[in-house]
Amino acid sequence: DRGSAPDFTAKEIDEQPAAARRLLDGLLGRLQGGQLLEDLGLGAPARIRLVACGTSGHAAEVTARVLAVEGAIPTRVVTASEPDLAVPEPGTLTVAVSQSGETADVLAALDRWGDPVLAITNAPRSSLARRADAVLGLGCGPEVGVAATKTFTAQVVAGVALALAVASGTGRLSAARLAHLEEVLDGLPMRLATTAARAAGPAADLAEELAGEPGVVFVSRGAGVPYAREGALKLEELTYRWVEAVPAGELKHGPIALLGPGTPAVVVAAKPRGRLAVGIAEMTARGARAVVVGPPEDATLPTCAPSEEPPWGPLEAAIALQLFAREMTVRLGHEVDRPRNLAKSVTVE
Ligand code: M6R
Repeated sequence: DRGSAPDFTAKEIDEQPAAARRLLDGLLGRLQGGQLLEDLGLGAPARIRLVACGTSGHAAEVTARVLAVEGAIPTRVVTASEPDLAVPEPGTLTVAVSQSGETADVLAALDRWGDPVLAITNAPRSSLARRADAVLGLGCGPEVGVAATKTFTAQVVAGVALALAVASGTGRLSAARLAHLEEVLDGLPMRLATTAARAAGPAADLAEELAGEPGVVFVSRGAGVPYAREGALKLEELTYRWVEAVPAGELKHGPIALLGPGTPAVVVAAKPRGRLAVGIAEMTARGARAVVVGPPEDATLPTCAPSEEPPWGPLEAAIALQLFAREMTVRLGHEVDRPRNLAKSVTVE
């Protein structure tokens, strides 16, 4: 039941702060010393392989970054449909990230390795959950819109919690830093709600302005890159516009050729400073229209971000970009909850 919401996607975008709150309430306080892993019946891994598709792959990228930055844990993200590069290595924990738990490519990829499998899923009775040795549930309630929204933010929260627990378990992440990061995570639901309120109007205005554009470039740097990719995926699957999402430093190696007068270039930024500012200057020098998603002082799509960028990056930007993609879809007259050619669960390889 979508209640008074115009579509399920709108309802599910709205549900994100509450879903993140529930999940955090179950996870915070269990990270110190790797407690969460112990609760899941898993030992401390020497390395981690994350396997996923689509939006879940972007949540996996965020998780991998936190594992690397906070725990120096060797980590690889494997696109489930392209598993060949990940060879079996002893001591690996495979973390399968899948909202539905029914994605055939993910299930098939797991057959290749003999590792213990931890499933991060919103479907505790799914094929993936049954196949896995342990399950970290998202508890978001059903997600009906084909475009993943609330399950993405929840996957990031669960993945970050897992990464911090692993990093704390190895002793690399100090108790003091963990306590600080837990506090920042604790404030996330509030920041997601504030971002939704702040970005809704600007997202609608921007959608109106850009609805006639054939394509949109998305850039970011560092921890923002998975969110640039996620914003791009949301826009393309809902609006059928071409998108290009790259780290800003890659622009000069090819994608900058796409830019001409007025080309929309979405910049996902905790703070559009340093090398990202250089990327923006490179784009605007070619006439591109920079649309910054970040703290209000710099942004077209304002978010509510912590004062210092956390290792999981500007997660709040995901909500602003979901709102933008949905608004543009409505303006174009496309079906919001059921984009063409797509299924909610992709059960074929
Ligand atoms: O159910 P899963 O998380 O395994 O699905 C993976 C992708 O098919 C899914 O994230 C897809 O990219 C979404 N439609 C994106 O919004």
